[in-house]
Amino acid sequence: MAYARKDVVHGGTFAELVTMSVRGVAHKSAALSWDEAGGLPLAGLTALQTLDRLAVSASDAVLVHGGAGGVGALAVQIARARGARVIATASPTNHEFLSDLGATPVAYGDGVVERIREVAPNGVDVVADFVGGVREVTMAVLAVGGRHASIADSTVLETGGSWFWVRPSAEGLAELGRMADAGQLRVPVADVLPLEELPAAFARSREAHVRGKLVISVSD
Ligand SMILES: NC(=O)c1ccc[n+]([C@@H]2O[C@H](COP(=O)([O-])OP(=O)(O)OC[C@H]3O[C@@H](n4cnc5c(N)ncnc54)[C@H](OP(=O)(O)O)[C@@H]3O)[C@@H](O)[C@H]2O)c1
Repeated sequence: MAYARKDVVHGGTFAELVTMSVRGVAHKSAALSWDEAGGLPLAGLTALQTLDRLAVSASDAVLVHGGAGGVGALAVQIARARGARVIATASPTNHEFLSDLGATPVAYGDGVVERIREVAPNGVDVVADFVGGVREVTMAVLAVGGRHASIADSTVLETGGSWFWVRPSAEGLAELGRMADAGQLRVPVADVLPLEELPAAFARSREAHVRGKLVISVSD
């Protein structure tokens, strides 16, 4: 499994063969199909590095904005594997999916702060934002001394949060693989599409309602 990108932010690729540094490659988990393994590196490393940055542990109540998305669905599972309590936002059609991943689902939109407070009256210790544009919600539910980060909204820096870009990491991929082997992490794949349907896949992704990952399958 590999996240085929240079250390600086740079385009990825869809191709039969690519060259890349061995320090960004890890063995595929036997528990994952090739499609699932293809969907894991970018989203999984982003989720893992966000939770590492936030030092999420078993004593935390964590709010995940966008729990049903590619990054969010993996972050929910990684936080649960660390023993944290997880509350995650999604539309109601994805609430059963989030419950199955071990999160308490909450609908986003009007009244979201009140709904989060209903399930976390003392606020949350950590907020991980995988959506953007939710800073006010974050600050309204974050407990005093809480930590927060966003991968989709650089303005979190103004409120003491972290904002960063995912980096290739063989160690991180190996950790994700071990979690998959241990049954702690599954990769929800919404669809597997052939290379010819790449433009349609991007159009669908941009609508921002894919559950888990879209995977492009390149035949040889
Ligand atoms: N900085 C980085 O290193 C980095 C790395 C990877 C991705 N990103 C960025 O992070 C974001 C997430 O990426 P992704 O691949 O996980 O996206 P994605 O899979 O396309 O996200 C789709 C999900 O977002 C949910 N969603 C849409 N609007 C929402 C809202 N207002 N509140 C809560 N959930 C909402 C949808 O759930 P419903 O259908 O239930 O609405 C859907 O499940 C994107 O902006 C991406 O560009 C940044």
